[in-house]
Amino acid sequence: MKEDVTYINQRIWFAEDIALEYAREQTPVPAETAILHQLGDTLQHASLLDIGIGAGRTTAFLAPACNQYVGIDYSQAMIDIATARFPTLPLHQQDARDLSAFAEASVDMVWFSYNGIDYVPHEDRLKILQEIRRILKPNGLFIFSSHNRDHKIYPAYHWKNLQLTLNPKRMARRMIGYLTGIINAIKHRAQQIQTDDYAIFNDQAHHYTMLTYYISGKKQIEQLNASGFAVEGLWGMKGERLKDDEVYVGGYSIYYLAKRYQNNTSIFSN
Ligand SMILES: C[S@@+](CC[C@H](N)C(=O)[O-])C[C@H]1O[C@@H](n2cnc3c(N)ncnc32)[C@H](O)[C@@H]1O
Repeated sequence: MKEDVTYINQRIWFAEDIALEYAREQTPVPAETAILHQLGDTLQHASLLDIGIGAGRTTAFLAPACNQYVGIDYSQAMIDIATARFPTLPLHQQDARDLSAFAEASVDMVWFSYNGIDYVPHEDRLKILQEIRRILKPNGLFIFSSHNRDHKIYPAYHWKNLQLTLNPKRMARRMIGYLTGIINAIKHRAQQIQTDDYAIFNDQAHHYTMLTYYISGKKQIEQLNASGFAVEGLWGMKGERLKDDEVYVGGYSIYYLAKRYQNNTSIFSN
């Protein structure tokens, strides 16, 4: 199962045509804008590791805003596009599960935007949190988003996925996509996982071809605490501030601002 989640998701992120889909993006989403506002001047003095940069959307606004920027993604196809866009910046093909290229307590801030952390198995997610905590300086900040388990997801056959239109050519294309989604969903149905703490769902991303980690805000806070982070804030998709104990049903994703515990108050040593 572990191999399935890793392999199935890598097949999508490593594909050149998928990487090209991300090539034009360059602006922050509302939750990122809210977090940038919250960070204020701290960003301009910070060394920043941007993980899962894709084709460089976050590079476009984070690199000029911080003091020292490094971007990584495990997809060479994504890194190739990002490098073509930002040829002078240090952008490397690297997996978040192994950050051994970075020294302990060497970075002020780590970003892992747009749910990039959701495409590895549960044990690997914990390993990533451990790695990020290791390379962050005490009180260093970790900003990321993750799929929200409290938000309802629709099955592949739901009429909402059909996206009706009066344009016959467009409708024919959408119908093919809809049927492809149903076939993919049937294929991946048995690979889904549900536990009290998290779920791995085959959601609508890329026509139901991926296995994606979903977790509620409450459980994510617990996971961060157990991994040596204190949570400073949560944001919904419109950039609205969420309460720590809020059951947020209004969006498929939640953004988190977490701080590495300064002292040895976590299960991992400082
Ligand atoms: C949803 S895309 C987001 C891309 C970009 N951050 C953005 O906001 O446009 C997720 C990205 O995370 C990367 N990713 C997923 N798992 C990763 C891992 N273990 N290590 C490094 N990158 C990873 C994928 O290759 C992909 O580019």
